[in-house]
Amino acid sequence: MMWPGDPLAAVTHPNPYPYYADLVATRPLFRDEALGLWVASSADAVGAVLISDVCRVRPAAEPVPSALLGSPAADVFRYLVRMNDGRDHLAFKRAISGALASVDLLQVDSLSRTWARLLMEQMRPVDNPARLLDFAFDLPVYVVGSLLGLTRDTLQRVALWMGDFVHCLAPTSSPGQVERGKVAAGHLLATYHSHLAAQRTRPTNNLLGALAWQAARLQCEDADSVVVANGIGLLSQAYEATAGLIGNTLVALAFHRETLEQVRADPAALGDVVREVLRHDPPIQNTRRFVSGSAILAGRQMEAGERILVVLAAANRDPSANPDPDRFDRLRRNRKSFTFGVGAHACPSEALATTIARGGLEALLLAGIDPEELTGRVTYRPSLNARVPLLGQQLET
Ligand code: HEM
Repeated sequence: MMWPGDPLAAVTHPNPYPYYADLVATRPLFRDEALGLWVASSADAVGAVLISDVCRVRPAAEPVPSALLGSPAADVFRYLVRMNDGRDHLAFKRAISGALASVDLLQVDSLSRTWARLLMEQMRPVDNPARLLDFAFDLPVYVVGSLLGLTRDTLQRVALWMGDFVHCLAPTSSPGQVERGKVAAGHLLATYHSHLAAQRTRPTNNLLGALAWQAARLQCEDADSVVVANGIGLLSQAYEATAGLIGNTLVALAFHRETLEQVRADPAALGDVVREVLRHDPPIQNTRRFVSGSAILAGRQMEAGERILVVLAAANRDPSANPDPDRFDRLRRNRKSFTFGVGAHACPSEALATTIARGGLEALLLAGIDPEELTGRVTYRPSLNARVPLLGQQLET
């Protein structure tokens, strides 16, 4: 099989891992002139970039993508914890981590199972595999949306808007996708603002209320905007990554028959499988950083304005982090995974995401989905960072 042409094409390549291994071994941090990006792939280089203070999540000159300016999508983007650094990031992150700490994982587990069952009744992905991807995308929105206190009717609309909103954030989005995303952002803002107002008159114990309480406690400026934007942000962060995790776990089960048999005999083994999939074939393959000043990173001189592609999926397969890294081992000891990031911006929701994916997968397997039937020649949804297999579509062609 031909290797991918570059680390962006690798994200949706059928097997990018020999190419990543070569990067780690021969060019752990190099400049790809054609892409105009530095590429960090080894565990050391990825770690060094992610913990460096000079590496920021947005370019200094463009804190909000210019295509979104003046739109509701910009009003969400500018307050997202994921898209800010420094003082604002610290305050938003404390608020979000504090709010997420109030979430009970047993409740997440129960919500994941309940929504998986309801969505399966509605979509019937076993009889109609073309709906498998819709199921994988909708499940995290329904679970996290329920935690935020959104009602069932609202969730249905929010799931549709979320698809449009997430598309408009991608660097490759078409003008049509950007426009649809802006409209969706407007609906999402209106929905969340009225939900927050209702919450004030009739306080209930949910994640949006916890976020509002934390933002007030930490005296965040523009607290309502911060709460609403990050309430939307929790759904958009969960959306593609969790869908990809469900899909990539089905792919792994198809290719590792013994593991599939173990899971069929004992569904509790799924938790370990999901954790190894997160390392071995992660749904988020890379992230980006923007250099804000002169610095030496992993031995290379960097200057302000340079951009770095941080290949988390390659670092997971660095033998210095995980011995025998290509082996799929659900019981791997001392697993080191970069999939949820490292340092100040590390994902606060690893346990949440893993629990949702496990609930969805268990329901699919119990209903009779056969991973081996889904995977002939797996193709992936076009993306520069998310690896989401098109399983159901594959069956139809
Ligand atoms: C398999 C699922 C998931 C994966 C692989 C994933 C991965 C990541 C990664 C790599 C980052 C850091 C990005 C960077 O440093 O550039 C991140 C950040 C974040 N994730 Fe996740 N995530 C997942 C699910 C979720 C879920 C379910 C939520 C919320 C309910 C969530 C909320 C967030 C938030 C709020 C941030 C921003 C943190 C910050 O910037 O300080 N993620 N995620």
